[in-house]
Amino acid sequence: MDPMQRIEQALSAALSSTEVPGAPPRLAAAMRHAVFPGGARVRPRLCVAVALACGDDDPGLTDAAAVALELLHCASLVHDDLPCFDDSPMRRGVPSVHSAFGERLAVLSGDALIVLAFQALAAAPARHPQRLASLLGLIARGVGQPHGIVAGQAWECEPQVSLRDYQRAKTGALFAAATMAGAEAAGGAPATWRALGEWLGEAYQVADDIRDVAADPLLLGKPVGRDQALGRPSMAAAHGLLGAVAHFQQLVERAAAAVPDCRGAARLRALVRAESERLVPAALCDQLAQTHARAVA
Ligand code: IPE
Ligand code: IPE
Ligand code: MG
Ligand code: MG
Repeated sequence: MDPMQRIEQALSAALSSTEVPGAPPRLAAAMRHAVFPGGARVRPRLCVAVALACGDDDPGLTDAAAVALELLHCASLVHDDLPCFDDSPMRRGVPSVHSAFGERLAVLSGDALIVLAFQALAAAPARHPQRLASLLGLIARGVGQPHGIVAGQAWECEPQVSLRDYQRAKTGALFAAATMAGAEAAGGAPATWRALGEWLGEAYQVADDIRDVAADPLLLGKPVGRDQALGRPSMAAAHGLLGAVAHFQQLVERAAAAVPDCRGAARLRALVRAESERLVPAALCDQLAQTHARAVA
């Protein structure tokens, strides 16, 4: 089955498992709204791609890991959009969860998605259940304190922030969890896949900073200009758009070079480059370089 179809099916099954008679219907609707329609599903795609490169000998476990990663990501977006964080009315081209369902259900649906992520792992039809403990630990590390998403978001509440630590925690950590979880689920060696996730995650956040300044909000499906309006640390603010693009390109090269030797290496490098082009197209880089050249002429 195509990996994207596999991911959508597994996510749908996880959500359906909570939609039973007697469950509060508006919470169920808010949870579904947070997960469907999806965005790029890049974290679960990365997890599945690494698992396939490692032989994918326990697909039920791979699917559960992919589901857990995406549910945790969706929960982070629901909470990130709340008025007390980035106060965003839109996400993925539709009203954000708090805009559609109110703040209380947004907080609760984020909470419930976090719990569901771990329930999905607990319920995985695993052929190799001994891999579960390590999977749980490494996925939890990607979202918790001290270096996961929660820590990354918390840096926004500190008077002094290192941009790199902030970006690595709020975004890099879950990407590293995705590559490592893919390896662990398939009986590979997670440590050898860590660097790929870390570089790609860092590149991803730098791209997000660039897109917050230079992209079309209709294409992004979320508002732009938020980093500047909210005073968020951003690579584009720190180094200018051209500096951020150059840094992004370096990070992508490091990510591609970090793909370990394996049968699927070429496919994985192609995935890294395709994501890079999707996020920051070469045409946008050329346009920025020309604007800069005209400005300094
Ligand atoms: C948005 O993540 C938040 C960041 C960490 C940059 P994505 O760009 O992966 O969002 P979706 O899942 O595709 O909507
Ligand atoms: C989001 O970072 C990171 C999360 C952990 C949710 P941003 O605030 O930059 O992401 P967007 O721009 O809202 O998607
Ligand atoms: Mg934010
Ligand atoms: Mg945000």
